Amino acid sequence: MNISIIGTGYVGLVSGVGFASKGHDVICVDIVEEKVEKINRGKPPIYEKGLEDLLKEVVDQGKLIATTDIEKAIENTELTFICVGTPSSSDGSIDLSGIEKAVEDMVIPLKEKNGYHVFCVKSTVVPGTTEEKVLPLLKRSGKKVGEDFGLGMNPEFLREGIALEDFLKPDRIVLGGIDERSLDVLSIAYEGFDSPKQKTDIKSAEMIKYTSNALLATKISFANEISRVCEKIGIDVYDVMEGVGLDHRINRDFLNAGAGFGGSCFPKDVSALVRFAKENHLETKILDSVLTVNDEQPVHIVDRLNQIIGGLKGKRIAFLGLAFKGGTDDVRETRALPMVEKLLELEADVVGYDPEASENFKELILKDIDYSENLHDALKDADICIIQNDWEEFKRLEPEDFDTMKGDIIVDTRRILKKEEYVDKFTYIGVGCDN
Ligand SMILES: NC(=O)c1ccc[n+]([C@@H]2O[C@H](COP(=O)([O-])OP(=O)(O)OC[C@H]3O[C@@H](n4cnc5c(N)ncnc54)[C@H](O)[C@@H]3O)[C@@H](O)[C@H]2O)c1
Repeated sequence: MNISIIGTGYVGLVSGVGFASKGHDVICVDIVEEKVEKINRGKPPIYEKGLEDLLKEVVDQGKLIATTDIEKAIENTELTFICVGTPSSSDGSIDLSGIEKAVEDMVIPLKEKNGYHVFCVKSTVVPGTTEEKVLPLLKRSGKKVGEDFGLGMNPEFLREGIALEDFLKPDRIVLGGIDERSLDVLSIAYEGFDSPKQKTDIKSAEMIKYTSNALLATKISFANEISRVCEKIGIDVYDVMEGVGLDHRINRDFLNAGAGFGGSCFPKDVSALVRFAKENHLETKILDSVLTVNDEQPVHIVDRLNQIIGGLKGKRIAFLGLAFKGGTDDVRETRALPMVEKLLELEADVVGYDPEASENFKELILKDIDYSENLHDALKDADICIIQNDWEEFKRLEPEDFDTMKGDIIVDTRRILKKEEYVDKFTYIGVGCDN
């Protein structure tokens, strides 16, 4: 099948490479020439495990090309996935300007197209967007939906860090379609995928994505709230959640207490759902609390540290992990930002380190902090080490690696160290356990 992908970010590029690896011929479109040029050289503009090798393979095989020319991309394909960003507006609602602009660019190519074409929204959009915003724009072409073109919504559930794996072997594939013909085309695109497929209407597909993310975010904030109780009474929330998660109705996943959820999806998607409900004159008491707990959690961790050691002024802090999680260079909504800001407010000296995200973090933070080129330089002479994300490099740390520190305090927000190996020699402060 000939597939075009509009937007070559985390979702678009991974989907493009994934579809090409399944045998489709893929044209990726982006407005940023530099990204297009890199992709055509087999170099992904983002960091994602395994992506570079597979991209190179499909580019060399001629199965994937990138371009800025959307007209050619639509002319030469029969299915287009829209994968542009849908960030938050300042009031937390979804900003659809990127998607609207992208769809406006599709009007002329659709007008000039001979033959049937399906447009499918893969970006996360609030229920109603595809039919009430995208469809009216496409209709400006003078073409008729159901006759000249089809419309679909196929939410993406990949997780950054393991995006390719998630894309190629998802737990489920949700296909929303305006009619059977659109759904048939989408089904052909996913023929080579051995995952359960749910066919539904477009609004339900849009809502499934929000509901999934809202529920996962709720589990995380729930675990963080329980972790504060556990800290207070001197027990370990990870032991508690192990017992809780053995109940198959609950499941252990996403019950890890930590610094809260970040990234390009959970915070913005929960906020957008809250705003969407408000616009529909509905209250979202649970989701409001989910966001509140999430905002409080990074500050709570720094406050607790501050209390335990009696002041952070002038303390040198090795801050490990700037991306919102390990395995990515993505710093959108990273919990590192509120934590570092709070540390600076308390006049600590912060040395940041992340295997991939330091450059992106520099653009995010207004104040100057020091950065280290490697883990061991960051730790050298530090009074305190704070581990914020879960890169493999951090998971492999051994107690001896901290020997070059001046102080003995380790704050493990992800609980990736083996606590029992540290408690004798260090002041180990784990989220959700006594210290
Ligand atoms: N990142 C994730 O983990 C993830 C997971 C599931 C769903 N989503 C959703 O997928 C969507 C895309 O997310 P992302 O993280 O890939 O975004 P991103 O910001 O990484 O990528 C968006 C890309 O679209 C390009 N673009 C913007 N306007 C364009 C236009 N008019 N024409 C062509 N290209 C254009 C940008 O240059 C950029 O390369 C969002 O709605 C997001 O919520 C993201």
